[in-house]
Amino acid sequence: MTVWIGTSWKMNKTLAEAVDYAGGLRQALSGRSLGSVQPFIIPPATALASVAGVLDGTSVLVGAQNAHWEDAGAWTGEVSVPQVSDAGARLVEIGHSERREHFGETDETVRKKVDATLRHGLIPLLCIGEPDEVHNAGTSSEYILEQARRALDGLEDALLAKVLIAYEPIWAIGAGGRPAHPDELRAPFAALAGTFGGRVAGLLYGGSVDLANASGLLDLPHVDGLFVGRAAWALEGYVQLLDLAAGLAGGDERRSEMEGVDQ
Ligand code: 13P
Repeated sequence: MTVWIGTSWKMNKTLAEAVDYAGGLRQALSGRSLGSVQPFIIPPATALASVAGVLDGTSVLVGAQNAHWEDAGAWTGEVSVPQVSDAGARLVEIGHSERREHFGETDETVRKKVDATLRHGLIPLLCIGEPDEVHNAGTSSEYILEQARRALDGLEDALLAKVLIAYEPIWAIGAGGRPAHPDELRAPFAALAGTFGGRVAGLLYGGSVDLANASGLLDLPHVDGLFVGRAAWALEGYVQLLDLAAGLAGGDERRSEMEGVDQ
């Protein structure tokens, strides 16, 4: 089973800093076996082509933090899926809560972006997550399932199989966020798995992930990976998370081989 470990740098890093990180990652990976861990890096648009160039030929997938649903045209300030693909992106992050909150991203635009991304053969990384009040009301699962359905309903199986879903509770994200207790995530992941388990490429968790809580999160049922912000913005932090995930995944594989269970 693939374990996805990725980071979005959000609106951080100069070109020089981005290239430095990518070069260091390339070097770090050359001496490592990550097993079933699939790394991905989502730099800001200014560094996308350079980072993709540095990481070309490695196992790292490079992504864009956003892309417009139209292929080209009079959309000042936007970049399209063909453009980010041309710059080396193989994955497009869609519907992060910061874009929904600050840039008017709606379930409707998210849907259009999912379609555009799939149309061009890239992987949509669909972000979903509920605000604090929904969490407090105990209706997180219903809320995020509805978000996911609006983004994905009606997709044929072969296309749905390319989609990654990142569940990122808004209350757990960023400097003001509260790290989730793994038990708070069991029901939402069970709900997602009930509808999308085995049908999408993976279900990821994001929100205040760090080296201390990562193994507890990866141990949760139905969690196929982690989507990390702050804890992976320094290269050492990211590499430590990759090592941790590779160690856990290797252990799982050895256990299942001994037990004769297919992963
Ligand atoms: P943090 O890990 O910094 O909370 O950010 C998570 C996130 O938003 C990833 O998309």
